[in-house]
Amino acid sequence: SVSRGISSSLRHYCEKRLRVSEALSGTDLGTNVKVQGWVRSVRPQKTNLFLHVNDGSSLQSLQVVAGSELNDPSLTFGSAVEVTGILKKSPRQTQPVELEAEQIHVVGKCNPLDFPFKIKDRHSLEYIRQFPHLRCRTNAFSSLLRIRSEATAAIHSYFKENGFLQIHTPIITSNDCEGAGELFQVEPSGPEHEEDENYFSVPAFLTVSGQLHLEVMSGAFSRVYTFGPTFRAENSQSRRHLAEFYMVEAEVSFTQSLEDLTKVMEGMFRSATEHVLARCAEDVDLFHKHVTPGHRGTVEAMMKRRFPVITYSEAIDILNSSSETFVFPTTWGCDLQTEHEKYLVKHCGNTPVFVTDYPYDLKPFYARDNLDGPKHTAAAVDLLVPGVGELCGGSLREERLDLLSARLEAVGLEETYSWYLDLRRFGSVPHGGFGLGFDRFLQCVLGVDNIKDVIPFPRFSHSCPL
Ligand code: 4AD
Repeated sequence: SVSRGISSSLRHYCEKRLRVSEALSGTDLGTNVKVQGWVRSVRPQKTNLFLHVNDGSSLQSLQVVAGSELNDPSLTFGSAVEVTGILKKSPRQTQPVELEAEQIHVVGKCNPLDFPFKIKDRHSLEYIRQFPHLRCRTNAFSSLLRIRSEATAAIHSYFKENGFLQIHTPIITSNDCEGAGELFQVEPSGPEHEEDENYFSVPAFLTVSGQLHLEVMSGAFSRVYTFGPTFRAENSQSRRHLAEFYMVEAEVSFTQSLEDLTKVMEGMFRSATEHVLARCAEDVDLFHKHVTPGHRGTVEAMMKRRFPVITYSEAIDILNSSSETFVFPTTWGCDLQTEHEKYLVKHCGNTPVFVTDYPYDLKPFYARDNLDGPKHTAAAVDLLVPGVGELCGGSLREERLDLLSARLEAVGLEETYSWYLDLRRFGSVPHGGFGLGFDRFLQCVLGVDNIKDVIPFPRFSHSCPL
């Protein structure tokens, strides 16, 4: 390390350790401080050396000004440093505060020739995705991670403020809630398990949804939610599917209608979006200005009006009367595909839209029968959003024992789900819930095209690098 001025033991007593965001706030002007972080730029000049140091606490880096005698060949882009000095008001326009360095210690070197990110280049999200172990060192991905963390906090706050109890639903489960057969089976490995053919005595899987466990809890707590990883053995390489994604799920007891659910879905969406726009303004701007220019307008428009509600049958009419040519059929009874969802969102004014009352046969066994006909529907609702399509899926749950057991019996699952039928035997109430794909939520708010760019470590078929 290189230093000038007061002795190091004296400095140790005097200096205050600050994060970059704290240093930039300007409250410690004139103070002797220590800042630790990674070098984002180095500019040696004749008499001075300028560095930018970032520690992930904000998008802004702290400008460090040092005499050229503190220059060191190992002070390169990406190296880790510890800088001590005095925080001063900056004479430069770009930043209100700068750190006049007295000592710069290179904690960890970084060879700029081997480092995949270059100081002057603006790398695309696609490029940095190739380096899942290093991409948090880029501005875009560190912004994303701060936004993701704030959005998580916002969702927890929303539920807390609205009287929901958080439940830790299990990751290992023996049920396939969605019945779509996209399960990852869990088996022990290692020499001590060689003989152990069936560790749990029943086949066990990574959860595809915490819904059924939340429904258990909704028999005792009228509002519950869970927020955690969910797993689907998707064979899709699409830009909105992952094998491991985060889902926010809520269950509400004593529901009167789907509106009881759409209110919570919309309330949570608005509250989390507003929170992120307010608390991560600079980070969000990076996406809205540089990644998807113009997306800010879409988000602001989304927040201006209540989300419209249309039925599935109306959606089919809209699709059939459009001049668009769709790849997939749009006859009553078919599942809505991404192309249909996108069209419906545009048709409704590029705003989130609820689609309700889907064909009964399209929905899993738990969906509540509307007992209508001949177009037989279930009380299910999806929220479709700009840029992504389906963001939430939910339904009222079939609380009537006779109807539920008949449906389970028809598919031979009555015994498997006997515990689930018990929930209807003992104090059953009308209830319902939904799941929101958290990663897709971030895609929607930030305008990010590929879901792999909004999650720290994306897992998808043929890809689990670390
Ligand atoms: O519509 P889904 O499958 O609903 C359920 O799992 C219900 N049991 C939830 C509930 O009612 N508690 O999934 C909910 C949401 C989807 O709308 C989508 O946003 C997201 O989860 N999702 C995925 N996100 C990323 N990758 C995948 N493979 C996803 N599959 C679903």
